[in-house]
Amino acid sequence: MEASSGLARQTAPVILEADNIVHRYEGGKKPAVDGVSFSIREGETFGLVGESGCGKTTTGRMILKLLDTSAGTIRYKGRDIREIKKKKELLDFRREVQIIFQDPYASLNPRMKVKDIIAEGIDNHRLAASRRERDDRIASLLRMVGLSPDHASRYPHEFSGGQRQRIGIARALAPEPRFIVCDEPISALDVSIQAQIVNLLKELQHRRSLTYLFIAHDLSMVKHISDRIAVMYRGRLVELGPADEVYSRPIHPYTRSLISAIPLPDPEFERERRRIPYTPGPPSGGLRPFSPDHFAACDGDLNGGGDCGGP
Ligand SMILES: Nc1ncnc2c1ncn2[C@@H]1O[C@H](COP(=O)(O)OP(=O)(O)OP(=O)(O)O)[C@@H](O)[C@H]1O
Ligand SMILES: [Mg+2]
Repeated sequence: MEASSGLARQTAPVILEADNIVHRYEGGKKPAVDGVSFSIREGETFGLVGESGCGKTTTGRMILKLLDTSAGTIRYKGRDIREIKKKKELLDFRREVQIIFQDPYASLNPRMKVKDIIAEGIDNHRLAASRRERDDRIASLLRMVGLSPDHASRYPHEFSGGQRQRIGIARALAPEPRFIVCDEPISALDVSIQAQIVNLLKELQHRRSLTYLFIAHDLSMVKHISDRIAVMYRGRLVELGPADEVYSRPIHPYTRSLISAIPLPDPEFERERRRIPYTPGPPSGGLRPFSPDHFAACDGDLNGGGDCGGP
């Protein structure tokens, strides 16, 4: 059963808010993230989609407080995360906001046993009062992600890509987070495994009341898992709206181009599929509403021949 209906999510309190955030890497000609705003509600899955290099990971790392914002503000539970400095508060933030990485090979230390990888979050936050409790928690986390408690004493290389990503998920869950940045958690996996991991993430979200920022470079899985989707292009958002609307009634030509790139399971359709290329037009004035909850970076009335060009 679903923990929260779509409607509940629309009215749930905002847990994370990005307000015009910018990040400029040293030496970068233009900011990698250039004035991005969105808010995410508790229990929601918010998809962030765009091609390689558009600034998705940079956005995620700012939210995780691993990168400073050059301008703009990020609020977590209403608190400007720049203000989170005191040891206790910072520790709480680090516990509540976790990440699942793209590459389950590179992100697990090959010299650590699975139980020690998972236990880091338990130990750092003193979530187990005894050795026994710690072991019980590790076993329960392994079961929760579809692995066996017997796997605890093995090393990452003994597992398949999908199993490793399950270990990465167990590690993220260990400190009992509220908000998880899922940074392309399925891109490195076989297509046959991707749906399993997506289903696991969905199930865990309901069981543990999690909120996800789900990053991906294409729309194929994101449209199924997300409540809302933001489409990013060269550091800016070009479209934001409910997942089904963005998918079935895309406004911005870049979104249309992304949708045209989604492979279809039907070989007949696949033969007919035409990828719509995207050429940026003149800069627009940023996101504006086309319906109460669907926004795009287009000027004028599109039906009347408005301009929907660059970001
Ligand atoms: N440490 C860094 N120093 C300088 N520039 C960087 C750094 N990390 C990323 N960039 C640049 O910032 C831009 C955004 O990078 P980012 O990693 O956020 O993109 P992304 O959307 O996550 O891409 P991908 O889909 O490939 O993961 C890119 O142009 C990238 O080259
Ligand atoms: Mg990235």
